[in-house]
Amino acid sequence: MVSKTQQQSERATFSSRRMFMFAAIGSAVGLGNIWRFPYVTYDNGGGAFILPYLVALLTAGIPLLFLDYAIGHKYRGSAPLAFRRLSKSFETFGWWQVLINVIIAIYYAVIIGWAASYTYYAFNSGWGADPAAFFFGDFLKMSKEVGIGFDFVDTIVGPLLGVWIAVLLIMALGVQNGVGKSSVFFMPLLTVMFIILVLSSLTLDGAAKGLNALFTPDWSKLAEPSVWIAAYGQIFFSLSICFGIMITYASYLKKQTDLTGAGLVVGFANSSFELLAGIGVFAALGFMAVSTGKEVSEVATSGIGLAFIAFPTIIDKAPFGSVIGVLFFGSLVFAGLTSLISILEVIIAAIQDKLRWGRITATFAVGLPLMVISTILFGTTTGLPVLDVLDKFVNSFGIVAVGFASICCIMLTKRFDMLAAHVNSVSSLKLGAGWKLFAGIITPIVLAYMLVSEVFKLAKEGYEGYPAWFVGTFGWAMAVGLVVLAFILSKLAWHDGADNYREGEE
Ligand code: PHE
Repeated sequence: MVSKTQQQSERATFSSRRMFMFAAIGSAVGLGNIWRFPYVTYDNGGGAFILPYLVALLTAGIPLLFLDYAIGHKYRGSAPLAFRRLSKSFETFGWWQVLINVIIAIYYAVIIGWAASYTYYAFNSGWGADPAAFFFGDFLKMSKEVGIGFDFVDTIVGPLLGVWIAVLLIMALGVQNGVGKSSVFFMPLLTVMFIILVLSSLTLDGAAKGLNALFTPDWSKLAEPSVWIAAYGQIFFSLSICFGIMITYASYLKKQTDLTGAGLVVGFANSSFELLAGIGVFAALGFMAVSTGKEVSEVATSGIGLAFIAFPTIIDKAPFGSVIGVLFFGSLVFAGLTSLISILEVIIAAIQDKLRWGRITATFAVGLPLMVISTILFGTTTGLPVLDVLDKFVNSFGIVAVGFASICCIMLTKRFDMLAAHVNSVSSLKLGAGWKLFAGIITPIVLAYMLVSEVFKLAKEGYEGYPAWFVGTFGWAMAVGLVVLAFILSKLAWHDGADNYREGEE
């Protein structure tokens, strides 16, 4: 039998705290920063949104980042293993997070694939005169039926497979050489590209108009609860907390690592990137408004509409459009890739821990089936509605529920003090009663409110007019199915040694 010391030392590590921070920022900075934050801000009070946003960052974002770091670093395991070591009955939370990441991985890859194709089209406006018709018609060849079909679209399948192959090769290289080094490479590249993109957008006609629309504060909005919920929602998604990602990454940190210092850097770097994205996107939307003779309110949008419809229009009209286009879509690709890497790491690490498989075996045993599922679901003419529903339910229900349930259990079993003591033994900024209050009491209250209001809304109104059977299957049944499956996975046997962990052991 392998001795305990050997088992512990087998765990991969990042060679430095800097590398960990690049990987953590790489996970945090993703599509959410670029195509979600700007519109959420605009829609929820503009400049006034800064207040709820900062409150959410300081009272939930950073405290939960510390909680994730504490669990991962103290118990040195993937999400299921770290939760199990925290308390045997908590293992289900870890698998629940793993399964949420499975769902996100299969659709995140397809969006990166689209963005990669559009990076190419941006060179010569490959989308033609009508970007909306092109995206849904010529590009996605979207079926009018909502359901599951098997008409594959080769222009989607090709880039999608390319993304999977690239990302699996990176994952196979392991924590240090794959995850770590790729983040150290992609993140500075992304930052430089993005800064050039923002500066170019600022030179466009109408940029000031866009920025005014974004930043003009509407203080009356602060009285609406939905605005505060939007701020918390943005923070959870954007910082990738409660996804098991930060637990997994922190488990690769060396023992003596200033955890709170790292968390503050990651939190503020992510927010700076969001702010930058807000400026870049709204400067460009201001230009779009002016050049099409519309108001900013008529062109402001987020997500797919922003990236694949508004931006092509902007690129067509701007003086150096193809430069803006390549930088914009290239940024989406790089920001997306480092997030996808972090999502896959949660799954691969969990399988490695549970089955004691080698890195390469685990990567392909997990990755190839995911690649196939992702291609079957989204490489066809029926992919978009499935993506839409999975995304909605996994974020509004899955993440919020797992966050709420796990924090309540940690609080009820009085484990906050122990986790704080661990963090304080290595960190500069010390955690105390304030942390417990924010992470252990205020955050679950906010999460409970979010959960209840979303579930009621979805149950009452359905989602986007999709047929009930469709939302039932890919929304409700999927979300509940994950919990059931997570519970089953938690009952499967571990390799011997998983429970040999003891307090204070290296
Ligand atoms: N944080 C990423 C973003 O802002 C999204 C993400 C969510 C990444 C969950 C990984 C896991 O886009």
